[in-house]
Amino acid sequence: MGGAADAAAAVREDRLWQRLMDMAAVGARPDGGVDRPALSMEDAAARSLLASWAREQGFTVSTDPIGNLFVRRAGREAGAPPVLTGSHLDTQPMGGKFDGAYGVMAGFEALQAMNDADIETRRPVELVAWTNEEGSRFQPGCMGSQVFAGALSLEKALGAVDRGGTTAREALAAVLASEPEMAVRDAGLPVHAYVEAHIEQGPVLEEAGLHLGVVTGIQGYRWFAIEVLGAAAHAGTTPRARRRDAFMAAHSMVGALRAIMEDAEDVARFTIGRFEVEPGSPNTVPSRVFFTIDLRHPEQGPLTRLGDAVEPLCRQHAGACEVRVTETFTAAPLVFDARVLDRLRAAAGRQGVPFRELPSGAGHDAAFVAKLAPAGMLFVPCGGGVSHHPDESATPADLATGARVLAEALAELANR
Ligand code: HGY
Ligand code: MN
Ligand code: MN
Repeated sequence: MGGAADAAAAVREDRLWQRLMDMAAVGARPDGGVDRPALSMEDAAARSLLASWAREQGFTVSTDPIGNLFVRRAGREAGAPPVLTGSHLDTQPMGGKFDGAYGVMAGFEALQAMNDADIETRRPVELVAWTNEEGSRFQPGCMGSQVFAGALSLEKALGAVDRGGTTAREALAAVLASEPEMAVRDAGLPVHAYVEAHIEQGPVLEEAGLHLGVVTGIQGYRWFAIEVLGAAAHAGTTPRARRRDAFMAAHSMVGALRAIMEDAEDVARFTIGRFEVEPGSPNTVPSRVFFTIDLRHPEQGPLTRLGDAVEPLCRQHAGACEVRVTETFTAAPLVFDARVLDRLRAAAGRQGVPFRELPSGAGHDAAFVAKLAPAGMLFVPCGGGVSHHPDESATPADLATGARVLAEALAELANR
């Protein structure tokens, strides 16, 4: 009967890499990236592939009312709150092979390594593929982990609508209809601890020549949806004084927002990722503009101050137009639990893997699972820190290093 160190030793670099490549083929883009929108048929295919691998290993597969996918490895005490690991299978439209998928496949590799090492843990260990982490198709992001943690109602989540008018409820129903054999469990469950592995999505580890990061926390973020409503008019005959030009009003809002968001220290992160102009005809004055704001900051004070300024500034610059401001996604800055980070530090130390501690600039499901139980994350480097881009890359050796530290930490936590 093996121990936690045997789980680490049983992790196989080649098997993990091959599974990541097989998963990346689902929703593959011609440029080497991946486009696997949340609750799409590509997402369903990815879930189905993971479920087939899991059943081969004798793991139990189930889903919950928001579509989170659970892969359970039994423990000695079936009723003991499990240790969870996981991440997400949905990607950005111009996504890469590793954002999200690495955490899911590293977690799977850790479970399989426990099987290979014939390890019995006191607690069950469960891998979770959280629904809609990215928030690209349906807002908010971290939808599955938020509902699981009670931070978002199931009804509100299922009511989200994509740009084509499809609701998350309809999309989830189509995914579940494609997996009739899938068992459905109740929402939420007691959790003993949570550990998520992820690529760093930044340059820090690579520039330091390191292959592992212990993540101390996640910066806070606030998303907004801004709708500016004017009136369509003839571009040639309508004087400026009589226009209700939604684009010019939105342009003025964006200028004012940039003036307060772009701090000299370059710490605040301000992104307008979507900007739609209607009707989008060269010779019609725009009647409607829709744009999104993704605002992030490591400290709650500036996040509150800057986020609270969004609506007043938009109203101030609306001119003759109407403006509607909706805050769609909110996560406070958080510090991970030392009890989990200590397990990661101890596993890395025992395995002789140097690491540095760093905060996460990117958001993760761990931010919400941390509301339920002690949580922590580990990072492995990605090439040039590039992510949310088809060129996202990582090395088989680094991915396996992270999986070994994850496997040992999970096995240790599952015996506490
Ligand atoms: O947006 C994020 O930070 C995450 O990658 N979804
Ligand atoms: Mn991610
Ligand atoms: Mn992402």
